[in-house]
Amino acid sequence: MKDLKGIAVFYLCVALTLSIFPESSAKWAGLDPTNWHVHVVNGLGGGKQLVVHCNSDVDDLGIHNLGPGGDFNWSFHVNIPGTTKFTCDWRAGNQHAVTDVFWKESEHMWLRDKCDWKECFWTAKDDGIYLKDLKTNRDELVHPWQ
Ligand SMILES: *[C@@H]1O[C@H](CO)[C@@H](O)[C@H](O)[C@H]1NC(C)=O
Repeated sequence: MKDLKGIAVFYLCVALTLSIFPESSAKWAGLDPTNWHVHVVNGLGGGKQLVVHCNSDVDDLGIHNLGPGGDFNWSFHVNIPGTTKFTCDWRAGNQHAVTDVFWKESEHMWLRDKCDWKECFWTAKDDGIYLKDLKTNRDELVHPWQ
């Protein structure tokens, strides 16, 4: 009987937490209601073209040729187990890189914090692939060209 009360109190607390903190509790429950938006940008110098090919486990987003300043972007909701992942193949002249641009995180919310829980900006520059820290509005080098 005592155990049953304990379990009831526990679920009451969970329900209360869910109603008071819907966003953080959604993360806690492994659900993410965010409408994520990912950008792939040509920030190369010298008028160079960027060729990007992005995929998830289920979608092929196609091959995109971006001129200087070009922005290829898409939005999505993560799947229920939260395993949604996007990978891009980047080519600029004879430079090449393959990088994940969105992935599952559980302990550290590094990517999600950089994207300020809404929008990720990945930019190809002359020395590699940068991710914008949306809070400071600064591009940070994450992957040098391979
Ligand atoms: C996002 O992509 C659309 C085309 O799908 C384009 O018109 C728009 O300019 C892009 N967004 C930005 C910020 O460049």
